[in-house]
Amino acid sequence: MTHVLVINGPNLNLLGEREPGQYGQRSLQSIEQDLADLAEACGLTLNSLQSNSEGELVDAVQQAGRDGVDYIILNPAAYTHSSIALRDALLAVKIPFIEVHLSAVSAREPFRQVTYFADIAEGVISGFRGEGYLLALQAIINRLEP
Ligand code: DQA
Repeated sequence: MTHVLVINGPNLNLLGEREPGQYGQRSLQSIEQDLADLAEACGLTLNSLQSNSEGELVDAVQQAGRDGVDYIILNPAAYTHSSIALRDALLAVKIPFIEVHLSAVSAREPFRQVTYFADIAEGVISGFRGEGYLLALQAIINRLEP
């Protein structure tokens, strides 16, 4: 069974209250519930985690390698623009991943236009608020063997 892990970085636990003009009105819990529903309907195993700590995110990626996770959906949040450690973890485990951003990072401040992940991701989905995670999961489903 295909196993998908959804990883969210710092401050994404505040979705719904945090800058709704940028990140939308939906809570992370509600987005994760939609992902779980779609995964279940398509026969996938899906787990989600969020952490504000770079080390915990690195540990989660390493654990995903040991657990045989097939795909990662990753919003590194602010670590998008800084974390060589998280990038190296993804390169180490070689798990294909889709980078997701709720906001349109390429249309924001110059520092947000730099991503340490886009060149090693399967693809990047940005600017669709919470729907972006579902688009990423749908892309994974579309790539599965029939
Ligand atoms: C974000 C964009 C990042 O620049 C920011 O630091 C976040 C969220 C997004 O989903 O749009 O925390 O990754």
